[in-house]
Parts: sequence; structure tokens; C-alpha cells
Amino acid sequence: MSDETGPARADDAAPGAVTPTAEAPTAETAPAKAASAKGGGLTRRALLVGVGAAGGAGAMFAAMGALGLVPESQDRNFTPPQRSDFSLTGRAAAEVVVIGAGVAGLTCAYELGKAGYDCTVLEASGRVGGRNLTLRAGDRLDELGGETQTAEFAEGVYFNAGAARIAPWMVTMDYCRELGVPVEIFVNNNASAYVYTRGMAAPARARAARADLYGYVAELLAKASNAGALNRRLTADDRERLAEFLRRFGDLGPDLAYRRDSRRRGFETYPGVGEGVPVGPASSMRDVLAAGTGRYVTMDFGYDQVMPMFQPVGGMDAITEALADAVGRDRIRTGTPVTGIRNLADGVEVTYRDGEGNGVVRADYCVVTMPPHLLARLPHNLGAPVTAALRTPVPVSAGKIGLEYGRRWWEIDDRIYGGASETDLDITHIWYPSYGFHSEGGLVVGYYNVEENAEAYTGLSHRERRNRALTQGKKIHGEKYRAELRSSVSIAWKRQPYIEGGWASWPSFDAAFDLLQRPAGRVYLAGDWLTHLTAWQAGAMESARRAVTDLHRRALQTTS
Ligand code: PHE
Repeated sequence: MSDETGPARADDAAPGAVTPTAEAPTAETAPAKAASAKGGGLTRRALLVGVGAAGGAGAMFAAMGALGLVPESQDRNFTPPQRSDFSLTGRAAAEVVVIGAGVAGLTCAYELGKAGYDCTVLEASGRVGGRNLTLRAGDRLDELGGETQTAEFAEGVYFNAGAARIAPWMVTMDYCRELGVPVEIFVNNNASAYVYTRGMAAPARARAARADLYGYVAELLAKASNAGALNRRLTADDRERLAEFLRRFGDLGPDLAYRRDSRRRGFETYPGVGEGVPVGPASSMRDVLAAGTGRYVTMDFGYDQVMPMFQPVGGMDAITEALADAVGRDRIRTGTPVTGIRNLADGVEVTYRDGEGNGVVRADYCVVTMPPHLLARLPHNLGAPVTAALRTPVPVSAGKIGLEYGRRWWEIDDRIYGGASETDLDITHIWYPSYGFHSEGGLVVGYYNVEENAEAYTGLSHRERRNRALTQGKKIHGEKYRAELRSSVSIAWKRQPYIEGGWASWPSFDAAFDLLQRPAGRVYLAGDWLTHLTAWQAGAMESARRAVTDLHRRALQTTS
């Protein structure tokens, strides 16, 4: 996959090249930074700072729009709407109906609420959060197709069944800071976890698999360079510097060969008073290549997967719960699936079902945060090109299973504290918890898979999924993996009502993508799928900020 194709596959979670654009400055939303961050010259910046000071953020938005400075990528320039934007101009804040109380919808309502917009959030399901979903003891999980599970976890055990990790450059971190949601490290790379492919006789520790691959690659390159194969590309000085790096990178001996007994491979018994018992020498280069671990030891190389990563303390839903509190629970109506969206001459009309029958909301504007494939099926008058564009992103299957154990055997027996074992089995990964270290029990994610691997589990009952996951995981962890299980819950996102997918992926970011960035009449769209951060909460938040920015600029320009 490439960075351009976005969400990619979680089982290939090392988005290849790190593009320079991935570099992000520190996350700040100070208005004075607005223009400079986007590289607008001094004059423009001075102008905007002046406009911002005199007329408030709203005036600044309008000016930025006129200058063509509305940010297209990560929105470092975002300034939330403020009450003064209206009070200073004698306008009334508009009414907005937001469809969907996932991350995008809640972020929209939260940001609009800062300026006093009158927001109503209609949420089809019985809860807020969308794909930000944390399951705890007693939580029910209903699936399309009728099966219902109830989590039976012990107190303090939780399962992030959807979003689970946050990169530090993501705007998600700014919301955590702003909302007072404490975060802690999410371990996304652990040398003590295992790598296991069907090309291997037994699982190896990631530290050994990495040492061997780095070692042999360095050996090949060092020897090729030493034999003169790179002389046309490199000067003698270059070659010396390269050799110096390769000796370190690969743990090479004086003969430029990988030290097959490298201590990097780890120990059966670690050094103490005694010198320790190493795990034994590496296999041959040919066998190491045949094991095919390359893709599994590079999982965390991408700009969005590299350590450190973060998670909210106590469960990912701390974010959506804090957003919902800030929006005001009274503004959020759960259990209200929308049945139609219509642009009117001077507003929008949204119809929905609820416990009592059918309801209707009229508002000045609407922000729809439904998944594109579900919005495409809904009666609306947004136009045929919009419907066609909504059908372009492809819903992707994704699934997870939470396996609860009464004993943290991965810490006690295996010395694995967080991180993941990587495998080419259909479970793809086994994740170990990054919280509750040394507590009594805990929850392991027995699979987190996508596409075909997820499909293989989606059609199964929970019992069948669990049995299959245990059969696979046992190949890495042995019989205790099955024997010590206490309880489990699995999710197949394609079978989640009102969501029906892990995420939606653009085959290419084409004209349909561009079209849907713009409002259709008074209806704005928002969601992670409308960004280059598909399958990230940060995408939902960036998209929400964009919709809010556009809507607010328009509201400020509208007389009445
Ligand atoms: N955000 C998800 C994850 O971290 C899905 C994803 C994976 C998105 C890899 C992009 C790259 O697992």
C-alpha cells in the first residue's frame, strides 16, 4: 500500500514511504499561527492577524477563504467558531442538525456549540461513539443477523473493539488535551512479542526475527560494497560511512558477516550473576528469507504506526463520552435512525424514526456523518452526482475479538508487556494490553484483521469465531491460550447496525472525493472517509473541522 491509498490494510500496517508532508508541527490552534503555518507570506499573515483581532475568528475565516488559504491538509489553522462571531455582527447563531454521534458528528456539534449554534444530533443506534467503541462488563453487542453478545469481563477489564491507537501528531491528541481526557502509552512495538509465519517451524521473538533480517541485509550490502559493486554510486568516503552504519545496523563481525550468535537475538535465560543462555544462533540467510517475516517486522515503520502511540486511560470511549458531555446530552437523541434528508428553499428537513413513530427536524443546515454507503441508500434530494460519488468509496471489513484471561500469562510466562505478535495466520495479530500491567487478569485481542481475513470471521457465529481464533493463537502460545480463557466478545464491523464496515476506502482520491467535500445545498458531509486519514478518529475530526469551518463562514455571510 502507499500513503496515498490511505487506510490500507491493518495487516499491512506499515504504510510504505514516509512522505515529508507527514511531518506535522506541534498541534496548536492559536489563531495567530493561522496563516504562517500554511506558508502564506508575511503580508497575508499580517493581514489575517489584523482581521482576526478586529473582527474575530469568523471574519478571519471569510478573509482566509477569499485569500485561498483554507487549509487543504491537516488543519493546523483551525479556529473554532466563537460566540463573538455572532454577537459582534448582530446575527443569530443558526440551527444545525447533525446526523450521527460518532467522532465526526460529535466533533461538529462540539465545535459549533462553542459559538452557540443550536445543534441537534440524531444518532441511529442506542449509543454515542460510532466506531469508537469500548466494551466492559455487562455491555451488549447486537449484530445484524440477530446475534447478541454480552461482555462478561471482570471489573476494570475493557476491550477497545474499534479505534485503539493514536499517533502523537494527530488532532485526536489535541481533543484529549482540551477535554481533559488523560492518555497513556499504547505499546505498538514490542521486541518480546512473537513473529510467526507458516514458513517457520516455531514462533520467534520479534527481537530475533529483526536481528536476523537486519543482520543479513546489512551483510549483503556491506559485502557488495566491499567487493566494489557500489563504486560507481559511492566514493571511498561514502563507502566507509556506509560500512560503519551497516556494522551497527546488522551487528556485523570484522569479516562483514552477520554475527549469527548476536546477543540481539535474545536469551533463553537472561544475564544475571551468570552470563546467561542465548537463544541460539540464527538460521542461514536462505532460511531467514524463506520464513518471510519481512512484512511483520516492519509493521510499525509508517508515520502513523511508529512509537510512541497513545490511548486514553480507561478506554477509547473516554473521548466520545467527553465530547458528548461537552455537546450536552440533551442535544443528542439516540435511537433515531434517519429516513430522509431534504434541502428546502431556506433550510433542511430531516425525517427519522424513533420509539414513538416518525419525527421531523427542520434546521438551517445539516451535517451528515453517516458512512457513505449507507447515505447512498437513504432517500434524499442531494442529487444523482452526489449519490454516485457516495458509492465510490468501498466499505472494508474489519474485525476483532477480545479474549479475557484470569491470569496475565503473557506477562508472567512470556514477559510480553503490550505490543503485538504478528503472523500470516488469518488472525493477523495478537495484541497484548497496554494497561493494567501486573493486575490479576486482562484482555488480549485475539485477532484484528481486515478484508479477506476479516470476511472469514464475519459470517461465523461468535462461538465459531472464538474457536477459530483459539486454534490459530494456540500455534503461538500453546494450550494455555485455550485452557485459560475466561470470556470473549467478537465484533465484525460489517455486521454492526448503521455502520456496516470497518471503514470506507477510496480506490483513488478523484473528482467524487472532491465533490463530496462541498456542501450539497445546505447539507454538509463529514467523516474520516472524506480525508486522507481514513480509519482514524483524527480523520473524522479533521473532516468535522472542515465542515464546521465552511458552514460557519457561510452562516456569517448570510444576512438574517
Ligand atoms: N487506524 C487503524 C489502525 O491503526 C487502521 C489503519 C491501519 C489505518 C493502518 C491506516 C494504517 O489499525
